[in-house]
Amino acid sequence: MRKLVAGNWKMNGLRADLAEIAALRAAHPAPGCDVLVCPPATLIAAMAATGIPTGGQDCHPRVSGAHTGDISAAMLRDAGAVAVILGHSERRSDHGERSALVAQKAQAAVTAGLWTIICVGETEADRDADRTLDIVGAQLSASVPEGFDPARLTVAYEPVWAIGTGRTPTLAEIATVHAALRAALVARFGPPGAVVRILYGGSVKPSNAAEIFRVPDVNGALVGGAALKAADFGAIIAAAG
Ligand code: PGA
Repeated sequence: MRKLVAGNWKMNGLRADLAEIAALRAAHPAPGCDVLVCPPATLIAAMAATGIPTGGQDCHPRVSGAHTGDISAAMLRDAGAVAVILGHSERRSDHGERSALVAQKAQAAVTAGLWTIICVGETEADRDADRTLDIVGAQLSASVPEGFDPARLTVAYEPVWAIGTGRTPTLAEIATVHAALRAALVARFGPPGAVVRILYGGSVKPSNAAEIFRVPDVNGALVGGAALKAADFGAIIAAAG
């Protein structure tokens, strides 16, 4: 399966930072993997205009209306986005998002013509209690809407304790979780579930990307901090290709 390297800029990036993307495109004119960059909403149109496939970081479940500060999937699409990250752990913790809401957002995203990266991941306390597989399984099941088209789905496994911390699970731990997610996808969707991409996210960097990409059922990465520097993001793209 062709890998996907997706960059999540989070609440980082000004217009001047788009020069990083120009450098990335110059250095990797024909990457051997799919690439997506998800900047803050203010930069989506400008990023998309560079020709880099661009995504949002969240969307509201409704198309329009009285929701101050929110952005709809149709607006992301209109600005040039092709995809949206949903259910990131920072949305789940900072904004109290539950999986049922993530599912509504996913439905709205697909209706607007976007594909989705739906995030799951356990906290450190869940991990210590040996509940990782239960947690990610429950999140996956409830965050993906009934009747969802698996062709519009990418899953990202992001252990909360590994995000932005420099810590990562062992390769064996990543393999165990990705195998469980794969089994759940196949159980739910049948053969199309075997080709849904499952990304790993959480402190992916140039020094660990290649070994993570070799783990079975790791079909790419969702990259935060290392996506902000063209050299680091480019090295991860090179490791995937
Ligand atoms: P990180 O973030 O690469 O900075 O750990 C990953 C993410 O939150 O998507």
